[in-house]
Amino acid sequence: MKFDPARIPDLSGKVFFVTGGTAGIGKETLLALAKHSPKGLYFTGRNSQRGAQIVADINASAPSITIVFLECDLESLESVKQAAEQFVSQSDRLDVLVCNAGVMNVPPALTKDGYEVHFGLNHLAHALFIKLLLPTLLRTAETPNADARVVSVTSQGYAMHPRGGILFDDLRTTQASSQLFVNYGQSKLANILYTAELARRYPQITAVSIHPGVVRTELVSTQSMFTRALIVVTNPFSRLTPQQGAYNTLWASTSDKDKIVNGAFYEPVGVPGRHMRQSRDDKLAAQLWEWSDKELEGYHLSAVASGGCRPPSARCRRMDTPHPSASSEVQRMPMPHLPASAGVHQTHTAPPDAGG
Ligand SMILES: NC(=O)c1ccc[n+]([C@@H]2O[C@H](COP(=O)([O-])OP(=O)(O)OC[C@H]3O[C@@H](n4cnc5c(N)ncnc54)[C@H](OP(=O)(O)O)[C@@H]3O)[C@@H](O)[C@H]2O)c1
Repeated sequence: MKFDPARIPDLSGKVFFVTGGTAGIGKETLLALAKHSPKGLYFTGRNSQRGAQIVADINASAPSITIVFLECDLESLESVKQAAEQFVSQSDRLDVLVCNAGVMNVPPALTKDGYEVHFGLNHLAHALFIKLLLPTLLRTAETPNADARVVSVTSQGYAMHPRGGILFDDLRTTQASSQLFVNYGQSKLANILYTAELARRYPQITAVSIHPGVVRTELVSTQSMFTRALIVVTNPFSRLTPQQGAYNTLWASTSDKDKIVNGAFYEPVGVPGRHMRQSRDDKLAAQLWEWSDKELEGYHLSAVASGGCRPPSARCRRMDTPHPSASSEVQRMPMPHLPASAGVHQTHTAPPDAGG
């Protein structure tokens, strides 16, 4: 399907939350959305310099949009919780959650909470965002003409998952003996399954997973020479620019709801994705949902945050009401003051350039 970002409909009144918005596909998603007048764009990343630059760029070109950078390390569930709390204290609605941030083929490591790094970051941190932001999505879905969505950026690389799909007994190990791409594939299979299960459990919202294509971003450029060569050889004609790499996310986030099958997996752009047995395995999806639920059972929004932010809260009005001065209308979120254990800082497990 041909996709033209210029034809994205008017997004007035809509609020988007994009994880990993400081670079690559997430950044291009934000820049494209900003051209269609959304009410709010919230995004996460670790790199506060890049975050501030994106806020400034969007502020300059679209001063009526509330644009907020939330510093967050997805290797720490506490950091995810704090970002979610900051969001719900600022916005009383969420139209589209884009679970985009990701790492690929990083050295064997555990997240701060002790999970295999790809699984902890690419899947479990996003499962926590979904859990904590679901009440806001569901509340939004009840408003007139609402169309609340979750878009998970997975990868066709899910096909490299280990035999059996997800090795639940090993998820609290580094899985260091896995072949190249296998731990990434496991986490990306989890994205497809978890999103399908979300759609089954909460049909009031639309949840889809998408493969963006093979895209020239830091995810690829920070790979070893061998891996880059492998990517080039296996995708000789289909490497996309970061702008093109955002098309499938933009399509899933903004196209007519009746063009989208809830729970489905799409390749670029809007084409039903190729499945394998495990990516259609409803039993495995339910098992993943229950496993994730159990791992995340200690994480809840604080009472203040979960009360949401509804007028006449002064803080909420300040974020939402257009300000006479264009530059001060867009606000950058103050950095959350995380305890050292919350892992704001980049760790050795991230690829050298991904954090900027
Ligand atoms: N590029 C491709 O060819 C391709 C193909 C298939 C699927 N995908 C998927 O597309 C998504 C986006 O990838 P991309 O190519 O745009 O990658 P990218 O350019 O490397 O950007 C990754 C984003 O994730 C964030 N991130 C990484 N580690 C993080 C951490 N520990 N905590 C918080 N944020 C973190 C980065 O922000 P900070 O550095 O600021 O933390 C950055 O904004 C990923 O889920 C990837 O699996 C990409």
